[in-house]
Amino acid sequence: MKALTILGYGDTKSNLKFQEVDKPTPKENEVLIECHAASINPIDYKIIHGELKAISKLTFPARIGFDVSGVVAAKGKNVREFEIGDEVYSRTPNPGTFAEFITTGSSYVAPKPKNLSFKEAACIPLAGITSLQALTLAQMKEGERVLIHAGSGGVGSFATQYAKSKGAYVITTTSTSNVNWVKALGADEVVDYKKQNYLEIVSNVDIVFETLGGQYTLDAFKVIKDRGRIVSIAEHIDPISAKEMGINKILRIILGLKEKKLMKLIRSKDAFYRFVRLQTNGRDLREITTLIEEEKIKPIIDTVYRFEECITALQKQESGRVKGKLVIEIKR
Ligand SMILES: NC(=O)c1ccc[n+]([C@@H]2O[C@H](COP(=O)([O-])OP(=O)(O)OC[C@H]3O[C@@H](n4cnc5c(N)ncnc54)[C@H](OP(=O)(O)O)[C@@H]3O)[C@@H](O)[C@H]2O)c1
Repeated sequence: MKALTILGYGDTKSNLKFQEVDKPTPKENEVLIECHAASINPIDYKIIHGELKAISKLTFPARIGFDVSGVVAAKGKNVREFEIGDEVYSRTPNPGTFAEFITTGSSYVAPKPKNLSFKEAACIPLAGITSLQALTLAQMKEGERVLIHAGSGGVGSFATQYAKSKGAYVITTTSTSNVNWVKALGADEVVDYKKQNYLEIVSNVDIVFETLGGQYTLDAFKVIKDRGRIVSIAEHIDPISAKEMGINKILRIILGLKEKKLMKLIRSKDAFYRFVRLQTNGRDLREITTLIEEEKIKPIIDTVYRFEECITALQKQESGRVKGKLVIEIKR
């Protein structure tokens, strides 16, 4: 079968190659998914650049891609919840969805929402599970004021709809050309960062869902209430999250020194702060399937690429200007 592989760390263009690889066989708790569509996430190019080396080092050639939608083509003897022919989707724990087939544990898979095409469904798992887990950890409640940065991104466009479906008051940021469609996702306030400084407009929020990193994470403390909550997915790893992520002791000490400012800000606001790294699972994905079938959340597709165009799609994702998600159509 055909699969996209990473040949070494470096730039996207020169380190990726399509190869013929063996079609995998599912182990006893796994399903074999025939991939119909996949979607791109920033983690895909970050892995190629070597940004995740400290957490998990690659052996080359390595596989790439985490989001998939497709059809169960075979299953292990212990798999009871799926049958061959079922339409499913998943954020797989191991990369490899930019391929014609992938095996993964059945506990990471959920039924594809009935009202979505394969291309639409492939947009959902990684961004959806991340949003659900971050806002659940932040204990978001109905009526709370939530600032979600980058409402036009893969995560932000999902998180905005998810937070609205739970009754939150959502404020989000984006640039001028995205303001109208992000507002149509249900955001109560959309700050156009090209024209306005959100720090002068937004205050007194209960929760910041921080998706940009850098100074944005530190500035989140300026807009939360005392004892407010900040969940970040882009940068600034706190000691508790570092330990939970299994980062080794030496790296945790280095991180602790690097994040002194963050720790001071947490104390100054008596805030709850966590860096969130998604834990993929089919249970959260099933909850998302329900919200989608109830039409509370819909996928936002920027562009659909053919399988052969994966590298072009990854380069577009690297631009940081994607509106929603980029989809790879694998089976036509
Ligand atoms: N920790 C985890 O488990 C986890 C999970 C998922 C994602 N992530 C990380 O979270 C980050 C976001 O992921 P993503 O998939 O949403 O990325 P993305 O789709 O590539 O984000 C692109 C979007 O960000 C917007 N944007 C860029 N700069 C902005 C700014 N200054 N203010 C407001 N919006 C801005 C862009 O809108 P404009 O063009 O209008 O600027 C664009 O629509 C990435 O770093 C990703 O690696 C982490």
